[in-house]
Parts: sequence; structure tokens; C-alpha cells
Amino acid sequence: MKPPKIAKDKVPQHVALVMDGNGRWAKKRGLPRTKGHEKGESALFDVVEGAIQIGVKELSAFAFSTENWRRSPDEVKFLMGFNRDVIRRRRDEMHRMGVRVRWVGRPQKLWKSVIEELEIAEEMTAKNKVLTLNMCVNYGGRAEIADAAQKLAQDIQRKKLKPEQINEKVFAKYLDAPQMRDVDLFLRSSGEQRTSNFLLWQSAYAEMVFMDVLWPDVTRQTLWKAIEIYADRDRRFGKA
Ligand code: IPE
Ligand code: IPE
Ligand code: MG
Repeated sequence: MKPPKIAKDKVPQHVALVMDGNGRWAKKRGLPRTKGHEKGESALFDVVEGAIQIGVKELSAFAFSTENWRRSPDEVKFLMGFNRDVIRRRRDEMHRMGVRVRWVGRPQKLWKSVIEELEIAEEMTAKNKVLTLNMCVNYGGRAEIADAAQKLAQDIQRKKLKPEQINEKVFAKYLDAPQMRDVDLFLRSSGEQRTSNFLLWQSAYAEMVFMDVLWPDVTRQTLWKAIEIYADRDRRFGKA
């Protein structure tokens, strides 16, 4: 399978993925919600391969939000174990493909075993350059900004920084992943048209594309279609 031909400067460098619709996919088939999550695994890794083929440099995958703790204890437990297993199962393959895996999110409440697997993957793939895959686990945009404000306030209290030195660039250094690029393409599956608190700061000027396909049915072609839509958009960044 070959990706569509798109001028290099029209390919988004950073794609944010809201992997939504697993529960509905399962419900349609009379299956438990967890079956939808399981089916979603291969969708993500197909999209990773498709991203490499077309020349995307950074992919951020929303795997578990700071709001997802509100789900039933059984589903939360499943999602924690599932994230841990997926990272363990897939990291060698990611490493072979030249993918650098990074965890973005809050440690509070997150299972230790999930953090451990993420840290092993980060260490193993630290030097890879083909694509950066930000695994956003226990991530929330507002949580990230509030946590950054707290760290910044501490630095001011310790006299490491003066209030008048704060600007967008300085503030961004306090975010969970300061090296993350701004999001170019914000892609959500399942037809829902909202950010659900994903990468709020980084998506200030992202192009939003909402695809009417449930996450387990997503393939690299879905990503390529979204990139074609993106390439046709006129990004102005406030200019006339
Ligand atoms: C996305 O699918 C997966 C996670 C949020 C972890 P959902 O579980 O939200 O599926 P729907 O939206 O209920 O169909
Ligand atoms: C967003 O999807 C979170 C993830 C994909 C991990 P949700 O299904 O949790 O979002 P809402 O509840 O529809 O806004
Ligand atoms: Mg959902």
C-alpha cells in the first residue's frame, strides 16, 4: 500500500490522535466494551506505519485521559492492564521501526506497572529518529497546564525566575513534554467533534479533522485521507 502523493511541506509534522469509538464498535456487535479496546490496538499500529510511510514526524496517541478515571472500576482496571501489556508487547517492534516512544501524562493514580513499561520503552527507543510516538496515558490538557503553573510558581518562589520573565516560550518549558512540536493535524475518530481536553496548549493552531469511523475500524488509509483534507486547508496563523 502506497500513501497518496502530497507535497512535503503539506504533510503535517505532528498529528494528534483521539482514538475514540471503541465502546460503540463493541456495542454494535453485542460485545463487551473491552473487546473494542482490544481491537483498537492493531488500528494504532497500522496508523503508526502509515505515518512513517507518508513522512509524519510525531504522533500523539490519546490512550487514557485524566477524565477516564470516571469510568467503571472494571473498565479502568482493564484499560490500565491493557496499556501496560500493549506497551510491553509492541516496544521491540517500535524500536525496529525506528520509533521513539515517549510517555506524556501525570504519574498520580497511574499504575506503577504502566509507568515501568513506559519507562523501559522510552529508554530502549531514546535514540530513534524516524518518528516520535507520544503515548498519552493519564493525560489531560488542563491538568498539564495547571501542573506547569505549579512548577513555575515554585521556581519563582525559589527565585530561579522573575514573574516578568514569563512568556509563552518560557511557560511551554514547564509542560509535560516541552520538546513536543505544536500539533498540525488534530484527528479524532468516531464522529464526535470535541477535543476532550487533549493537547490544549499545543493545538492552539491545529487543523481539526473529524472522521466518521470508529477507532477499531481505523487504518492507515484513514490517516492518509485526513492528511489529504489537511493538505487542502489554508493555514493562516492570523495573517491576512
Ligand atoms: C476510546 O473509546 C478509548 C478510550 C477512551 C480509552 P471509548 O471507550 O471512548 O469508546 P466510545 O466513545 O464509548 O464508543
Ligand atoms: C477521549 O475520549 C479520551 C481518549 C480517547 C483516551 P473519551 O471517549 O474519553 O471522550 P468523551 O468522554 O467522549 O469526551
Ligand atoms: Mg469515547
